Amino acid sequence: MVTVNYVSPDGTSRQLTAEPNVSVMEAAVRNGLTGIVAECGGSLACATCHVYVDESWLLRTGRAEDCDDDLEDQMLEGTSEERRETSRLSCQLVLTEELDGLTVHLPESQI
Ligand code: FES
Repeated sequence: MVTVNYVSPDGTSRQLTAEPNVSVMEAAVRNGLTGIVAECGGSLACATCHVYVDESWLLRTGRAEDCDDDLEDQMLEGTSEERRETSRLSCQLVLTEELDGLTVHLPESQI
């Protein structure tokens, strides 16, 4: 199992566990976490699964602009909250053992 920490804008955090190969978005939605909407269900068409990767994890997750496919990078231009260097779409962050303990910060809103 892989553990992910989701930090809300008010500083409260919730820790969830998921099987490897589940996305950060899926782990959140399956556990009823508010703060990630995921309108399109993970098909990279809504940008309502926006998260800010904790800077300490950015080398392991990579940045959106470094991904082979530039669709995520383009979709991040349409998020409701400001895009930052650490912005990722959580449906594209697939959990691996290497990401055990990952911390992501939730934006104020997704829509
Ligand atoms: S869930 Fe729609 S882009 Fe991630």
